[in-house]
Amino acid sequence: MATGDFYITTPIYYVNDKPHIGHAYCTILADAMTRYHALLGHETFFLTGTDEHGQKVQEAAQQRGISPQQHVDEMHVAFKALWPELQIRNDDFVRTTQQRHVDVVRHFLQQLYDAGEIYADDYEGWYSVKDEVFLTDKEVADGKSIQTGAEVTRITERNYFFRMSKYADQLRAHIEDNPTFIQPEHRANEVLGFLDKGLGDLCISRPKARLSWGIELPFDDDYVTYVWFDALINYISAIGVLSEPAHFRRWWAASHHLIGKDILTTHSVYWTTMLLALGIPLPRHIIATGWWLQDKQKMSKRSGKAISPLGMKDVYGTDVLRYFLLRDMVIGLDSNFSEEALVRRNNADLANDLGNLARRVGGLVHKWFEGRVPDPGPPTEAEAEIVALAEGLVASLPGWLRELKVHTAIEETMQLVRRLNKYITETEPYRTVKTDIQAAGRSLYTALEGLRFAAWLLSPVMPSKCDALLQAIGASGTIGTLSDLSWGGLTPGAPLEKGAALFPRRDAPKAEPDSGPPEADSKPKKKAKTSKKVALETPEVIEFAEFMRVDLRVATVIEAVAVEGSDRLLRLQLDLGGVQRQVVAGIAKHFAPADLIAQQVTVAFNLAPRKIFGLESQGMVLAVDTPGGDLALLRPTAPVAPGTRVS
Ligand code: MSP
Repeated sequence: MATGDFYITTPIYYVNDKPHIGHAYCTILADAMTRYHALLGHETFFLTGTDEHGQKVQEAAQQRGISPQQHVDEMHVAFKALWPELQIRNDDFVRTTQQRHVDVVRHFLQQLYDAGEIYADDYEGWYSVKDEVFLTDKEVADGKSIQTGAEVTRITERNYFFRMSKYADQLRAHIEDNPTFIQPEHRANEVLGFLDKGLGDLCISRPKARLSWGIELPFDDDYVTYVWFDALINYISAIGVLSEPAHFRRWWAASHHLIGKDILTTHSVYWTTMLLALGIPLPRHIIATGWWLQDKQKMSKRSGKAISPLGMKDVYGTDVLRYFLLRDMVIGLDSNFSEEALVRRNNADLANDLGNLARRVGGLVHKWFEGRVPDPGPPTEAEAEIVALAEGLVASLPGWLRELKVHTAIEETMQLVRRLNKYITETEPYRTVKTDIQAAGRSLYTALEGLRFAAWLLSPVMPSKCDALLQAIGASGTIGTLSDLSWGGLTPGAPLEKGAALFPRRDAPKAEPDSGPPEADSKPKKKAKTSKKVALETPEVIEFAEFMRVDLRVATVIEAVAVEGSDRLLRLQLDLGGVQRQVVAGIAKHFAPADLIAQQVTVAFNLAPRKIFGLESQGMVLAVDTPGGDLALLRPTAPVAPGTRVS
């Protein structure tokens, strides 16, 4: 393979479902990976499409009283139309009902039949209509598939079989010899474990009497082929395995199959053994992602939990949705989807870090430098550190991509952004501009140039926002390959475009629909824990002045009583040196009122008063969860005069 080629495929999606967040994630990830490789200067080819045959489609069409062809012609449009809206730029869209695909499937079926790799036999066993798979006794319990929970039925019929078992050893050897063939590594082990259980032959036909919506077997017109045997071939039919051999060879040598973990066996075992039998090289990589979960379950349309990706896109914008999906998922692991988490990401990373930096720097340039990129002048040590950081990101990107660490590539880029915010605070161009215009110009140039690096490196994730960011910092031209990205590319004097805020802050969404009725005692505590954890990963940076607005004081408890009707709340009367305050605190489970009398506590003094259980609370007592599940009060280690300000 030319080392610079990258061919990526997504699973082809069943048309009988509407597109949901699981489909959107996989396709957005493939798109971002394609764009990252393009940044590295690689030639790319990105294939997605729809899986249009099989029993489910036939049943859905029957229910609608239309032909399966009409049904799929209508249904596939939902996918095809969605991708551009999510800024997905696939090079091809394959449908398994297209003649170019059907011809290839029939050709290979005939080839395998002629070679004796396919034979007829009676089959008796379990079949799941929902998953469209045959199952062995070991894979079934209580009339259901152990893996997917789908109902199974017992069937006996004459069918055609592919000699899959014959290739088990060859496949095992390939997996063992190529440690990055199936990624992440634990998935390769899963496949080896599957092979250890003994590999049977694969039933690859369905009698037309039972299922007619499929590709007819070229050697027996009473049968159609099994939907997976048909669908998997899309990866090679679409790139011209028969019609354009040179094109095929080129891209196939660089192939990456991105799939969900639920279709690991079909790809790593069925598909690979089919290829071995056909004498076609195996794909280079099979990459299995985890699932987006909601309430610990895989999100999909049918489970009724799907959040329409279009819905999120319309509320928060495609770029923000893409950022969240790619930043919050470690490839290979599961992740929880919630609108709350998306808003948190938007506010912490995009509005607070990236948007804020662009706004601060742009504002100063417009105010003091006539809206034009300032002259950097000679660099100092502080700038050298930032240049090294930015250039280090560029150097690390190929490695992160190889290791599938898209979330790391994003996070490290955000670290540059955070460093730039700090750098602006340290170098204070808003102050130095009055005494040393050159120093101010240098700080602002450095920040703009750092933002340019960030825009390039985040462009695979947020293509349109990064374009807008480049305009806003006076960078002309389009994003090319990283070899064109070197420090100092911004031209002094170039105009910065004025525009609306790139990443507005969002309000936290109202309680999530599935989260159930709030439970007075446990809910607030749980919530506090999660938010603390997230804040550690992505601290929302605030200015010192902002922090100082919170008036923290030491107070002495002079009265403590249980709040009637609540087992969680205490009403505290606090002395702040002449001033008294009443605070209602959720600490009753951890402290007896009598033990609190005369204790010193720290209180957020200037919080707006709130009614809690009908009582006014005029502040908040600070406390922290202990590992043992208790609560510890935060207070000075030596007694101080009540009312002393914490600083
Ligand atoms: N048609 C087959 C694939 C054939 S490929 C030759 C199929 N289609 S599907 O539409 O049901 O699912 C496609 C992909 O979406 C799977 O990889 C699946 O893992 C992924 N997802 C569906 N729900 C998902 C989540 N909630 N989260 C992440 N991806 C999940 O299977």
